[in-house]
Amino acid sequence: MTETRGVAVVTGASSGIGAATARRLAADGYRVVCAARRLDRIEALADELGGIAVRCDVTDPAQVAELAERAGGETTLLINNAGGALGLEPVAEADLDAWQRMYATNVLGAAAVTKALLPTLIDNAGQVIFVTSVAADGGYEGGAGYCGAKAAERSLVQTLRLELYDRPVRIAEVSPGMVHTDEFSLTRFGGDQQRADAVYAGVPDPLTAEDIADCIGWVATRPAHVNIDRMTVRPRAQAAQHKIFRA
Ligand SMILES: NC(=O)c1ccc[n+]([C@@H]2O[C@H](COP(=O)([O-])OP(=O)(O)OC[C@H]3O[C@@H](n4cnc5c(N)ncnc54)[C@H](OP(=O)(O)O)[C@@H]3O)[C@@H](O)[C@H]2O)c1
Repeated sequence: MTETRGVAVVTGASSGIGAATARRLAADGYRVVCAARRLDRIEALADELGGIAVRCDVTDPAQVAELAERAGGETTLLINNAGGALGLEPVAEADLDAWQRMYATNVLGAAAVTKALLPTLIDNAGQVIFVTSVAADGGYEGGAGYCGAKAAERSLVQTLRLELYDRPVRIAEVSPGMVHTDEFSLTRFGGDQQRADAVYAGVPDPLTAEDIADCIGWVATRPAHVNIDRMTVRPRAQAAQHKIFRA
């Protein structure tokens, strides 16, 4: 690994998009700090990449503070990726505890980690990239809790960019459509593999975690004066949230 780009912190690095992004950034020359709750997974990944693993629940202030400390003064990149969806019930049947957990992770967690690392990122003329979702573009049936959380996360992105317009730090957003990762839908449906598989049934080529990691790697490595405000990425088969081709 050529360590020329400084330290990249990736939250939610234990699976899916986060793990693929950690690999991509390591290949691009970052020393990667892999953060998530499942320590065994991030330790294995950090070993593979020559990085470090930090157990961090982004909703726990003490663990976020420790993440910032362990990442250290050479941090140039933060990928706010930890998050996901819980449930697909209509509002009339909503599990509001699940809504709170989605908000806590996707919004408050991303805000807390950003807050903790921001002084260093500004000092190093760094960048923050948020992994939001096309769910932030508008609602869909059963999606109010997740769409609302991702829209609030997008609001963080937009606000930060305005607040920091005169500081040497870039604020970017990668907004994926359908990505077939092992756990996203499984988590959403409480471990029901059949329901999770049905999400992708017949879709010729959903995006992969590596496709999104590729986008994140590209956004991260533009010259310092180039800010990619938002990159929306969908599989070709998904023309819009409700317009998905299934063979
Ligand atoms: N897959 C899609 O279709 C899709 C589309 C648009 C956007 N996204 C977004 O992309 C991101 C990654 O999704 P994915 O598909 O890669 O799903 P995933 O495999 O389920 O990844 C979610 C990651 O977040 C971590 N995480 C969850 N809660 C956390 C917490 N409280 N503290 C720290 N880490 C936490 C999980 O690790 P631990 O459980 O080990 O903590 C896991 O590594 C999410 O923000 C998701 O909303 C996904």
